[in-house]
Amino acid sequence: MTDLEKMQGDLLGRIAAADDLDTVEAIRVEALGKSGSVTALLKSLGKMTPEERQAEGPRIHGLREAVTEAIARRKATLERAALDAKLAAETIDMTLPADTPLSGTVHPVSQVMDELAEIFADLGFAVATGPEIEDDWHNFTALNIPESHPARAMHDTFYFPEAEDGERKMLLRTHTSPVQIRTMMQHKPPIRIIAPGRTYRSDSDATHTPMFHQVEGLVIDKGITLGHLKWTLETFLKAFFERDDIVLRLRPSYFPFTEPSAEVDVGFTVEKGKRVIGGSDGWMEVLGSGMVHPKVIAACGLDPDEWQGFAFGCGIDRLAMLKYGMDDLRAFFDGDLRWLKHYGFSALDVPTLSGGVGA
Ligand code: DAH
Repeated sequence: MTDLEKMQGDLLGRIAAADDLDTVEAIRVEALGKSGSVTALLKSLGKMTPEERQAEGPRIHGLREAVTEAIARRKATLERAALDAKLAAETIDMTLPADTPLSGTVHPVSQVMDELAEIFADLGFAVATGPEIEDDWHNFTALNIPESHPARAMHDTFYFPEAEDGERKMLLRTHTSPVQIRTMMQHKPPIRIIAPGRTYRSDSDATHTPMFHQVEGLVIDKGITLGHLKWTLETFLKAFFERDDIVLRLRPSYFPFTEPSAEVDVGFTVEKGKRVIGGSDGWMEVLGSGMVHPKVIAACGLDPDEWQGFAFGCGIDRLAMLKYGMDDLRAFFDGDLRWLKHYGFSALDVPTLSGGVGA
């Protein structure tokens, strides 16, 4: 065995046996560093005669390549093993209960939905739901908005491509009002429900997002009047804004599914340059409402001479903005953790009427 072969066998043996990265690095410096043993051999090529160089050159370069490659391979193996060990040590069992305080927060929209459910449960209302992918009939036709009605154009509806059989036109519901229809068709009156949920319209600016939230209210019973509607809304808004000086103004309006219809404004006062709900310095529109149109009641298979009722619809995001002082709707759906930390609510702080719904 020549000296070079012996040297190569010795170095490769030590590299293979090295069990940490520092040892591999030490061998690299010892062999390939400035004054390393292999470097010295490379330097010696300069002093050789051309014949010697021709014979020794390839062998010395071969040695350098073999050592370089063995070092790289050993390094990669050790690095992978180190990473595997680290990953194994840092495994988290996601099924274990949290042992540190929860850092997630309840989104203001979820908080307001919980507050609404709490307030209306106290008034005897159940929570109803319906699909977000609706058909044309529930979203429009049954609500007295026939095919040619201008209200259809006003809704900026997201339609699905026409179905093959051309039967039911599907869409993303533009309001929570179709839940009125589904509820009346599934349950016998008396009915008292609220239906909070997501709604969709093709619209986007500081006060509109393509997905937003509404809450629908519906009461169907015998002898229901506008007076019941006004009292219910007043009681709801007082509980929601946690103030007794809530003043409502009902303005005559038009919705195809109610007759008569009213838009409801809530009075505000200006405190330190900011609008605060309560009092009556100015008016802000908060919801649409009215007595359920006899045609809507009939479309659901009920006799409008026997059953009457009122309905209302209200933007939840707007309610949250008014109550909790947020001014850009788009931030609601950005998923920015800093915003959520600032405006979010503790998951353990469930709204209750006794504790204050917004506590
Ligand atoms: N669906 C209406 C909208 O999205 C809101 C509305 C108005 C709902 C009057 C109602 C109502 O139930 O009675 O603009």
